[in-house]
Amino acid sequence: MKNLVAVTVLASVCALSCNYRKDKSTTTTGLTATYSSINSNIFIPKCVSCHTSPNTYCGATACGSLDTSVYSQVAARTSAGSPSSSNLYLRVTTQAPVMPLNASGLSAEEQQAIFNWILNGARNN
Ligand code: HEC
Repeated sequence: MKNLVAVTVLASVCALSCNYRKDKSTTTTGLTATYSSINSNIFIPKCVSCHTSPNTYCGATACGSLDTSVYSQVAARTSAGSPSSSNLYLRVTTQAPVMPLNASGLSAEEQQAIFNWILNGARNN
């Protein structure tokens, strides 16, 4: 009986600590393939400092005349259903100069969210 209690306690401690480690290593950004999620998780922190008007990098006009906080301007750089022919997707993956300019590139997860959003129709969702 004593042994059973000890084993149960040990198993519980292990389960708790294993879960704890798992929680810590998981990066939960809440990023999904919607415009609102991409806007709050990618555009606002990584793009809008240059892609709004005015801004200190490009002056009076948003860089590339693209204000990423305006859905219609972002959508105009996509070909709904076809990420590989969308300026927006190409510029955050392969087409130079890759965005965000002068910073490390988007993560695979971020690129994938933009890819899926365009694939699903680049909707204002
Ligand atoms: C440090 C400033 C800076 C940041 C940050 C930045 N960009 Fe840009 N971006 C530019 C400049 C400057 C241009 C215009 C020159 C060019 O096309 O190379 C541009 C052009 C673009 C274009 C082409 C627009 C067009 O139609 O010609 C896209 C798309 C774009 N950026 C997307 C993004 C995205 C998405 C992010 C964030 C992940 C981002 N950029 C972050 C400066 C920036």
